[in-house]
Amino acid sequence: MPTELLRMIQSARPIFADRAAVLRDLEQVLSSGKLMLGEYLQRFEEAFARSIGCRYAIGVNSCTTALEITLRYLEVEGAEVVLPTNTFIATMTACLNAGAKPRLTDIHPDSLCLDAENLSRALTDRTKAVILVHLGGGISPDLAEIQALCGRRGIALIEDCAHAQGASYSGARAGALGWAGCFSFYPTKIMTTGSGGMITTNDEGLNRFARSVRIHGRGNEAEGETDQIERLGNDWFLDEVRSVLGLHQLSHLEANLRTRRTLAQRYRELLAPAQGVKPVSFADGCEPSYYKFMVLGEPSLPLSSLRQALWERHQIEAETLYLPPCHLQPVYRRLFGGKEGTFPVAESVLKRQICLPLHAGMTSEDLQYVVSGFETELQQGRKR
Ligand SMILES: Cc1ncc(COP(=O)(O)O)c(C=O)c1O
Repeated sequence: MPTELLRMIQSARPIFADRAAVLRDLEQVLSSGKLMLGEYLQRFEEAFARSIGCRYAIGVNSCTTALEITLRYLEVEGAEVVLPTNTFIATMTACLNAGAKPRLTDIHPDSLCLDAENLSRALTDRTKAVILVHLGGGISPDLAEIQALCGRRGIALIEDCAHAQGASYSGARAGALGWAGCFSFYPTKIMTTGSGGMITTNDEGLNRFARSVRIHGRGNEAEGETDQIERLGNDWFLDEVRSVLGLHQLSHLEANLRTRRTLAQRYRELLAPAQGVKPVSFADGCEPSYYKFMVLGEPSLPLSSLRQALWERHQIEAETLYLPPCHLQPVYRRLFGGKEGTFPVAESVLKRQICLPLHAGMTSEDLQYVVSGFETELQQGRKR
């Protein structure tokens, strides 16, 4: 096999553009001996809040924790929280951890996101929160209706921004489109701290609560009431080492997003002639972060089934967001009796979805290699 065919294209890859500066700051942290709740976390939080356009950003150890904290603040125990079925299981786990009943919904077949119609069907008088997942870095075209629906019924709108760092809608950034935003810095995400997360909000009450529960429920650290345990919490804070990584990753975010958007545009051009496949498109006014490049096949083309061949024959990592969807995951079936046929749109459309690799370390040659491998497997798929 010619060597260029052996290049391995990962679905996601973290990029550290300024290692010397990162190492200098890490050295500073190590020699200071202050590994938690210090200068770097504060700087990272301030810069993060500015980048989103909100008053508060609170650094925690994961997006799952960020979601759990926002839900605990709402006292969702025994109440319902609505979320789409095609999300990473962590969105649902956070609801369960906070004592809520997750109420899954079907999705819109074009955006693959929660839409206003499915949402209004799922709302009950027990609904306390809705989690809007910005799948693949795109934002539901029904955002305005969803915001209005939640506003009218006094339901908190939480954004799961794990995929959507840097995405925006009508100029406002993901993380500032609802009552609270929850971000992930897991290694595959747009920016990473190894693992980590952030809560964004304008709500002073949530800000104080999150700062307290992330360090075992201590009194507000800014006021120095550190010996008073006011509520139950955990060691959920983002430490100084990871805050250094976060601060540097954030300073390269705009360049990272520009590269992703350029690559996505190139994918669109190269895939335009391909028969029966269509990149997922976004509403006017939505600027996606392109966490993933999502493509849908026509009904006879179950693109998700090409993933294995792409990997085995071309070493191209591709994914589906998310297959199986939450209601068909073994754990959900066991806990809640999830069954096939409950959410027919998600069940059929996700089999037709594939996410081609997209990250800021990819070159246009990598991208061309992906498209040619994809087209080869499409032809094979059509013959089968
Ligand atoms: C949509 C979504 N929500 C939540 C999470 C959880 O993020 P974390 O691993 O930071 O807890 C992920 C992580 O992959 C995700 O993709």
